[in-house]
Amino acid sequence: MSARIASISGAEHTAMLGLGVYRPERIVTNDEVAGPIDSSDEWIRTRSGIRTRRFASDAETIISMSAAAARDAIEAADIDPSRIDCVLVATSTWLLLTPAAAPQIATELGLNNVAAFDISAGCAGFCHAVAMGSDLVKAGTARNVLVIGVEKLTDTFNPRDRGTAFLFADGAGAVVIGPSEEAGIGPTVWGSDGTQHRAIRQDKDWMEFFREIDEKGLDAVRPYLAMEGTAVFRWAAHSLEKVCREAIDRAGLTPADLDAMVPHQANGRIIEIMARVLKLPEDCALANDIEETGNTSAASVPLAMEAMMRKGDAKPGGTALLIAFGAGLSYAAQVVHLPNWK
Ligand SMILES: CC(C)(COP(=O)(O)OP(=O)(O)OC[C@H]1O[C@@H](n2cnc3c(N)ncnc32)[C@H](O)[C@@H]1OP(=O)(O)O)[C@@H](O)C(=O)NCCC(=O)NCCS
Repeated sequence: MSARIASISGAEHTAMLGLGVYRPERIVTNDEVAGPIDSSDEWIRTRSGIRTRRFASDAETIISMSAAAARDAIEAADIDPSRIDCVLVATSTWLLLTPAAAPQIATELGLNNVAAFDISAGCAGFCHAVAMGSDLVKAGTARNVLVIGVEKLTDTFNPRDRGTAFLFADGAGAVVIGPSEEAGIGPTVWGSDGTQHRAIRQDKDWMEFFREIDEKGLDAVRPYLAMEGTAVFRWAAHSLEKVCREAIDRAGLTPADLDAMVPHQANGRIIEIMARVLKLPEDCALANDIEETGNTSAASVPLAMEAMMRKGDAKPGGTALLIAFGAGLSYAAQVVHLPNWK
């Protein structure tokens, strides 16, 4: 007979204990991005809801932005960093295939010998990482998990591409997930549709690029982020209502119980459509950080949570629906209690 292996289990309930964010210094107007794509402030505002966004400098890296957001999250959580034993980093703009960014970020934070790895689920990455962080604490695999969503999309989109250059931006957000007396993170509803993998993608893989260099030398064009905007818009506007409703339902709640909704800041019009079809109560706050932050992919949900609480539209402890979606295509949603923030 095989030797019996011990089984462990962890906390019954989990919550986001603290939130921190990092916004790059430089504010970029629509006029600045409009030039190279023959666009205008008016077109960008009406089609996307964006007025300004932040672009990172060379000194503001995936590592430095993550570490800054994480330090504030740990302070807001008011826990000893030595109680964090896993770091999950959701990103699609860390430009090394290996190693992942997470171990370097952990070391930068003085978290030694902790589990640390990256999650690649595009703009849905943060909500995937929240699901995993919560389940790791419930399973007893980790006591507390640091979850980071971080992007430097200015490294990956082409400033001359009309389909992406006005939309994407840079930033980082982090939460500490740990045990809680009552449930602060509800069941996650998530999924993917690989038939639409081309809708948001790196336009060529690295081998194609290397072959192009062999053939064309300096005329080879580096890989860029590409997006079929209309297809993404249709999918997001019409398929995600069901996901939101299921996440609310699985949390044992109804839309009337929500104090806030924090959708991925993909596009102002998608956010409005989602809120409308869900028939959110009038006093339910709707995060609209895209106006000042642009679409920061995996960083957008924590950045939008922070903006919402900073403006006084929602408070720590409030009940909020998080939903994120993007490349894959992939999506994830859960109802949470909003964390303390710094
Ligand atoms: C990208 C997006 C704003 C484009 O809007 P759209 O209405 O679908 O735009 P279209 O591509 O159909 O083009 C409409 C018109 O605007 C023009 N246009 C396209 N991009 C433009 C730009 N950046 N500036 C000015 N005009 C532009 C087109 O040439 C076209 O002109 P025409 O009507 O004279 O032919 C929209 O598709 C979108 O928001 N999609 C979702 C993207 C998203 O949320 N991605 C993130 C997911 S993580």
